[in-house]
Amino acid sequence: MNLQNDLLLKAARGEKTERTPVWLMRQAGRILPEYRAVRSSLSGFIELVKTPELAAEVTIQPVDILGVDAAIIFSDILVIPEAMGLPYEMVEKKGPFFPKTIHTAADVDQLKVANPEDLSYVTEAIKITKKELAGRVPLIGFTGAPWTLMSYMVEGSGSKTFSKARHMLYTQPEVAHKLLQKITDSIIYYVKSQIAAGADLIQIFDSWAGVLPPLQYEEFSLKYIRQICDAIEEVPVTVFAKGAFFALESLGKLNCDTIGLDWNMKVAESRDRIGGAKTLQGNLDPCALYGSFQEIEKATKSMLDEFEGGSHIANLGHGVYPDVDPEKVKCFIQTVKEYSSR
Ligand code: CP3
Repeated sequence: MNLQNDLLLKAARGEKTERTPVWLMRQAGRILPEYRAVRSSLSGFIELVKTPELAAEVTIQPVDILGVDAAIIFSDILVIPEAMGLPYEMVEKKGPFFPKTIHTAADVDQLKVANPEDLSYVTEAIKITKKELAGRVPLIGFTGAPWTLMSYMVEGSGSKTFSKARHMLYTQPEVAHKLLQKITDSIIYYVKSQIAAGADLIQIFDSWAGVLPPLQYEEFSLKYIRQICDAIEEVPVTVFAKGAFFALESLGKLNCDTIGLDWNMKVAESRDRIGGAKTLQGNLDPCALYGSFQEIEKATKSMLDEFEGGSHIANLGHGVYPDVDPEKVKCFIQTVKEYSSR
């Protein structure tokens, strides 16, 4: 189907656009009362993820309500561990929890490579969303990066340091590699099924890139992200590696189209180190949206000025925070639209 608004895909391919496209990581869910209304009619987050009609509805909400230039499918990165045989729970106000975790080679052997059929609730949601969007904006599919998924599978929950997962890299590197390869194989099948269902772009979230030292990042994360990028030929790919300022040169060499910057990264320096061939996405501090409308406008304009002269997709430097006023989000979006079409 032809897209009426293909700004995101054009910018990802490095083509000139009449203005800068804008969307927000974690725009589906979290901030909208309309999302909470849908969610509270169910047992919780996981039931929503597994109910394609409703997942499609909350995917489209930010397009209707906020006016973003892309939808991102409502799901979670943790659906892959579950499809590999490691189910998760989502604990209210705390986050993910895995009752069973991975410690030994035998644990890894017991996992299976995810069969896309076990994730058909995601592909079904993508098909419904595409139909209901009717070409208004592109739909972003996504996956966690292998390292970030491994972190949860070993740690069992969120962590500031992921020291249990990093423990394994030092004490059982071969087990870690075996696990990472199994996750990578699962991801490749999964993103291919998302693309077949209609995803127009794939974003890889390496949320915990920043806990690794540079050499380990190359060995235990980039090596596997590279396999995923090389396997996707059909649609543009974005890699968002949070905290990986030390790896910008290597990220620039990946077979992908866009690199996401978090808010700690200086734009000009990042562009130099990544190289001019890639589009950059980002990178307003999510906390900037706690400021006044006037301050948000100012911060957004100055961010756009920093990216001026290169291909850019406007976004925050990480996911939007749950307690941000949707009116402030609209101010960010409106400012990007108006200021970049000068
Ligand atoms: O971008 C989008 O809006 C699409 C939906 C999406 C969700 N999770 C829905 C969600 C996406 C892209 C994700 C990715 C995700 N999930 C990441 C990578 C991005 C990042 O922020 O770094 C990570 C690390 C996770 C794991 C996860 N899922 C955590 C730590 C939590 C709890 C805290 C929170 O609210 O993020 C979740 C739960 C989750 N995933 C919610 C939503 C809307 C909140 C659940 C609820 O409704 O209570």
